Amino acid sequence: DLKKLYEKYEKIFSITPQRLRMITDRFVGVLEEGLKKPDQTVPMLPAFVFGWPTGEEVGSYLALDLGGTNLRVCHVVLKGQGKFEITQTKFRLTEEQKQIEGQELFDFCAECLDTFVKDHFGDANGEVILEEEIALGFTFSYPMSQDRIDHGKLIRWTKGFGNPNTEGRDCAAMFRASLEKYGVPIKMTSLINDTTGTLIASNYVNKDTRIACIFGTGCNAAYMEHIRDIPKINDLGLPGDQDMAINCEYGAFDSFTHEHMAEIRTKYDEHIDLHSNKPHEQTYEKMIAGLYLGELFRLVLIELSDEGDLFLGQNTYKIEKPYAFDTAFLSLIESDPTDELLTVTGLFTHFFGLDTTLEERHFFRKLARLIGTRAARLSSCGIAALVTKMGYLEQGCGVGADGSLYSKYPGFPDRLHEALEDIFGEKGKKIRTYQAEDGSGVGSAIIAAMTKARKEAGI
Ligand code: BG6
Ligand code: GLC
Repeated sequence: DLKKLYEKYEKIFSITPQRLRMITDRFVGVLEEGLKKPDQTVPMLPAFVFGWPTGEEVGSYLALDLGGTNLRVCHVVLKGQGKFEITQTKFRLTEEQKQIEGQELFDFCAECLDTFVKDHFGDANGEVILEEEIALGFTFSYPMSQDRIDHGKLIRWTKGFGNPNTEGRDCAAMFRASLEKYGVPIKMTSLINDTTGTLIASNYVNKDTRIACIFGTGCNAAYMEHIRDIPKINDLGLPGDQDMAINCEYGAFDSFTHEHMAEIRTKYDEHIDLHSNKPHEQTYEKMIAGLYLGELFRLVLIELSDEGDLFLGQNTYKIEKPYAFDTAFLSLIESDPTDELLTVTGLFTHFFGLDTTLEERHFFRKLARLIGTRAARLSSCGIAALVTKMGYLEQGCGVGADGSLYSKYPGFPDRLHEALEDIFGEKGKKIRTYQAEDGSGVGSAIIAAMTKARKEAGI
């Protein structure tokens, strides 16, 4: 019976406060390793963004954002005092585009940028004459190793991307080649990660911000580190008393060895991992991020169907297709306002041709809640580890957060805060996440402005 089954899944997907604390402790150690030595599982990547913005950065910038689900082109006007204006166009990436030849993907980015520039800055003939050169910030949200701000070697693809001939190569150079091919009269001056952009954009408007996280298609965080505490770049001779942003790439936590979360990793997590295009990579991300939660839910449903507990006598071929169950469906299931759970009824009939009983629908809702809650609770460990490592607990700090899970999944921020209190007790209340400013747009523009200022100052 479904009540008994629910109890089984409740055990599988619940994480106790004690377990959260244990994972956080291990996480702190892993973050520190990443700062000490190059090429660690969680690579703690120096982002070559030096210190916080003043809030007085001004000017007109372009931003391009290749994030995982969408490609966006933005024009941002920074007005100082934490104020800005933004105009943007968004293109949804197709599954094919995530696998085409790498250079073709950058060609597509350049083409979209070209169209945007012609539309916004061109005359009637599409001729673009700019009074002043507009700098472009490129937000490329995958792990890149950088030794300066306008260069970045892709370490590995994440979030289901697999474009050949890109890993190990300088993506800035690849993108510049595409810009030249399309004759786009724009200069790319900075290459950043979405978390770094979010960190800077959030601090621009809220000075209390110390950390930024993305909980969207992927999951990751950035924060500001003292250069003297990044031993692996000692030999660069950078001033130790200054700060630099670090893109943690902590979605990779527990990759390869799967030892840090062994007690809570389920057979469904393992299935998702082994059937992905990158087995054994991004272990933490695969248990949290939007790309995977719907699939996790679907795998449980398929198990129940195979065991004869659900959908008896119905044709289940549609729901049997991998990734057929979008994470947005989980949001809908959790937030269905009707007593009869009519949204859930409609969802199952419309997308999967399946009839459901009210009891089943209640079960689905509770199951969705288990999976969404586990993701939010696990998300708190990465934040808690950064807070612990940096000693932010006593004073408290703001955490800018963005991404579809954080902004659209019902109750995600509350569940995350509850877990922070489970880890830190009452003091956990001092760590507040809030909806960030658009990192890839505004953040990228501010970083382009900061880069320009450093250049002008001859640094
Ligand atoms: C956006 C941010 O809102 O969220 C981007 O501006 C970020 O910087 C994105 O990449 C991530 O969310 P999702 O859900 O699109 O992966
Ligand atoms: C993945 C990417 C990372 C990005 C995150 C959120 O983890 O590897 O670079 O920040 O997704 O988009």
